[in-house]
Amino acid sequence: MPALARPVAAAALPHPIPYATGTTTLATTPDLQPDDLDDLPPADLDDEDDGDAVRRTAGLAESSHASRHWWDRNADEYQDEHGEFLGDDRFVWCPEGLDEAEARLLGPAGSLKGLAALEIGAGAAQCSRWLAAQGARPVALDISFRQLQHARRIDLGRGGDPVHVVQADAAVLPFADGSFDLACSAYGAVPFSADTAALMREVHRVLRPGARWVFSVTHPIRWAFPDEPGPEGLTATASYFDRTPYVEQDEQGRATYVEHHRTLGDRVRELTGAGFRLLDLVEPEWPDGHEQEWGGWSPLRGRLIPGTAVFVAERG
Ligand SMILES: C[S@@+](CC[C@H](N)C(=O)[O-])C[C@H]1O[C@@H](n2cnc3c(N)ncnc32)[C@H](O)[C@@H]1O
Repeated sequence: MPALARPVAAAALPHPIPYATGTTTLATTPDLQPDDLDDLPPADLDDEDDGDAVRRTAGLAESSHASRHWWDRNADEYQDEHGEFLGDDRFVWCPEGLDEAEARLLGPAGSLKGLAALEIGAGAAQCSRWLAAQGARPVALDISFRQLQHARRIDLGRGGDPVHVVQADAAVLPFADGSFDLACSAYGAVPFSADTAALMREVHRVLRPGARWVFSVTHPIRWAFPDEPGPEGLTATASYFDRTPYVEQDEQGRATYVEHHRTLGDRVRELTGAGFRLLDLVEPEWPDGHEQEWGGWSPLRGRLIPGTAVFVAERG
């Protein structure tokens, strides 16, 4: 695996964005040569997955560390399994298949032209490619180097200008105040970050007044049910109000995967507490004819309980 590439010089980004001084995050871009196109260099990571699953506290550093390494280890499998459903340049908000081209949660058609957009937890940056096609100027940020290598792989395969990518933790955004006109995230970073109130404040800091922040997460009600696509996923077995994180850990008790739960009310308070106005809360219905499962998301459950919540907010 190539060493972490050089930090991104501000000028290298589409619109110079002076870095926030004092940031500890290393912003970098994956270095991928054309001949790496067909097959990404093998990931050289020891297989730590499938640890014990528990509910226990997990702080910011432990959660980010686990996220970075889990997504580095699982990026290939994730893109293999979901790449076709996501498309290379579509903006798909969720396993229900809600497509931004129809939903227009970011703004009316034509309104994205020229906007400086930040995609948080971008993965292979499919949404950023869609934003670029609308005339926006996206930056795709993710904590996982491997996910961003997949963004490079897709760009090299398509030719043309690659999406600008930055490797960083969403909890510490390496951008100056008021750098963006729009921020968005499709199941990226928010479910995996221990201090989402701080994350909302960071997004608020890098946005200009009036800018939209739109993000999709697992619908909080799903935390009361086993994450199973079948009938066993239809019986509530846990308290919706239990915010104890879900942690997978190795023999030494070190977290290898962490997910954090917030109730709907918690999310609304995080947003308003950070200075956002909530414009809408979208709970996509499971479309007729949509038979594709995605983990615990399935037609059986999708037709009975919501699987996704999309928060549409505006910076005050
Ligand atoms: C479910 S994937 C979604 C990726 C992409 N938005 C998509 O729809 O395919 C979650 C993404 O969030 C990223 N992520 C997790 N924790 C993060 C953090 N603290 N900061 C930035 N990105 C993070 C992961 O690396 C992963 O790429």
